[in-house]
Amino acid sequence: MLDFGFNKFDKYNRIIWDNEKVTNSHMMLVGSSGTGKTHTLRKIIESFDFAKKIFIIDVHGDIEVDGATTIEFNESSEFGVNPIKLDSDRDFGGVRKNIRNFITMLNRTSRKLGTKQEPVLINLLYDLYSANGFYTDNPQSWNLNGEHRGRAKRYPTVQDLMRFSKWKYGQMLTGASSKAFNALERLNKEYQNMNRKNLKNILDEGDLNKKKEVCVELYKEYINEIETGGEIEELIKYDSKDILKSVYDRILTIESSGIFKGKDPFWHTRDDKIVRFNIKALNKDEQQMFVDIVVEHIFLELKKRGEVPFADTFVFIDEAHNFTNDDGDHIINIAIKEGRKFGLGEVLSSQSFTHFPEDIISNSATKIILGLDEMYHKSTSSKLMIDAKKLGYITPHKSALIQIKNKGNTSNRFIDCVF
Ligand SMILES: Nc1ncnc2c1ncn2[C@@H]1O[C@H](COP(=O)(O)OP(=O)(O)OP(=O)(O)O)[C@@H](O)[C@H]1O
Ligand SMILES: [Mg+2]
Repeated sequence: MLDFGFNKFDKYNRIIWDNEKVTNSHMMLVGSSGTGKTHTLRKIIESFDFAKKIFIIDVHGDIEVDGATTIEFNESSEFGVNPIKLDSDRDFGGVRKNIRNFITMLNRTSRKLGTKQEPVLINLLYDLYSANGFYTDNPQSWNLNGEHRGRAKRYPTVQDLMRFSKWKYGQMLTGASSKAFNALERLNKEYQNMNRKNLKNILDEGDLNKKKEVCVELYKEYINEIETGGEIEELIKYDSKDILKSVYDRILTIESSGIFKGKDPFWHTRDDKIVRFNIKALNKDEQQMFVDIVVEHIFLELKKRGEVPFADTFVFIDEAHNFTNDDGDHIINIAIKEGRKFGLGEVLSSQSFTHFPEDIISNSATKIILGLDEMYHKSTSSKLMIDAKKLGYITPHKSALIQIKNKGNTSNRFIDCVF
């Protein structure tokens, strides 16, 4: 139970939030800078004695709470999350889905993959998973049961992906098939060049024949250099040495961020009730990837556990607008829409409602407005159906507007709450 304060118009009427009464346990906390979002998050966390597990994603490093175990993430952190750990969940897991999620996560950062890089990275991941005994069309292979090539199975990591792509690149560059790759690449270039000129009608018949001759020679060269017979397939998958190299470089950058290597923070904190991930030292892209991985992990673990009547696991995300987007398949949106039945409550804070996707606003039973700049009064008033005047009456640090949607109660009023 959480006692926010009293109703401004009836001081004997306390504004109480009861986990077992609310239609869902998600909360939104909105207020301009300095109005007390972080302060209120702390207060809420401290009052959640009924919760089994609380995760705090602390972007500013200022959500210190008594009894919390803090895990610091920075370049030299001893902890790391694994974005390519396979999940065996039928809806969200499996080889194909995990690869898709990883690619989407990378493309959400400020550095999208190039159109040629994306399929190469996808193929690298497929090959890496199958090299470790995880096969796309065989869901039974998606767990760690059994052995692969005489060893206990384990999920590949970003380090493995880095080593694997380096090895592939080396194969193309100097491996047994490298001469065949060279001939094939030159044949491709020559053929494309001929085709382009031919389409523009700038080749007479003599020129065209000469160019065809060159292609035939290169093809012969390729045939003579064949080593494995798989060279064409490899080149289709990995495009060219240059593209494979650029993908390898990208994986190197991802790997060097420091959040993808080291001990599993979830396992390490498995017995702790309040776990605070301090991600202040990470850059925006790293923070975003980190949040995606963490929320997905928590959601899937709860889903595995099955349905429960009330939320007992909470994720607090300060400055959450940095991590949300309108994609209905994004994990924060999925967790908001489906997390309730599995016992998850998301508590998100931001400076305004305009930054949040509608899915999040409409699926959060509790909304707390701590004071908004006039600039946002009109949009907030129409979005949330609040009298704009009421927004003007909020006194930061002294009062707030609070909406709590309870089961069996149709009222969705925002109440003036005095602390
Ligand atoms: N209800 C309150 N009563 C007393 N002090 C408060 C209250 N709310 C916030 N404060 C104080 O006001 C200051 C700013 O609060 P806080 O850091 O929580 O704001 P914020 O909304 O998180 O700001 P930012 O967006 O800049 O992170 C802090 O020193 C905090 O202790
Ligand atoms: Mg704050």
